Amino acid sequence: MADSGEATASGGTPRRDFLNLVTASFAAVGVGAIAWPFINSMQPARDVLALASTDVDLAPIAVGQAVTVMWRGKPIFVRSRTAQEIEAARAVPLNDLKDPQTDQARIQRDPWLVVIGICTHLGCVPLGQKPTDPRGPYGGWFCPCHGSAYDTSGRIRQGPAPLNLAVPPYAFTSDTKIRIG
Ligand code: FES
Repeated sequence: MADSGEATASGGTPRRDFLNLVTASFAAVGVGAIAWPFINSMQPARDVLALASTDVDLAPIAVGQAVTVMWRGKPIFVRSRTAQEIEAARAVPLNDLKDPQTDQARIQRDPWLVVIGICTHLGCVPLGQKPTDPRGPYGGWFCPCHGSAYDTSGRIRQGPAPLNLAVPPYAFTSDTKIRIG
């Protein structure tokens, strides 16, 4: 009798189908074995995850002081503003602003202002964090490269920068702590 290629394995399954099934199973296991290390290597490392957010303890920052922390490679300015600085920020008519935003829209809780410390002109880090730094005519930050001046809400008031200092995503995790990112 000629071999038709359709001889059956036990149970009546055609041998070719049986072999196809076995081959497909091995192929699936092989792909799985290759795919796992690949997918695993795509998980962010712990240190990368840690840098995705930055916790800041506000308790040691006195009124009128500022600190700079790093978040995702960017300087973040955290300033505990004085009552006068807050008042000055809120007294400005929106019409006077190049990038109109109220102070209240830029903060979550008094007296804290949290902004990304990168000038919106060409990306310099403006001065104004240290007590000895010039803060410019509006009392916030001053970028000496081309003279952009920001007010006590981090809004652009003078010079070539087109936009206010950006506010990063952050949340209060307690009365004296924030998490940026
Ligand atoms: S980068 Fe700030 S004024 Fe040019």
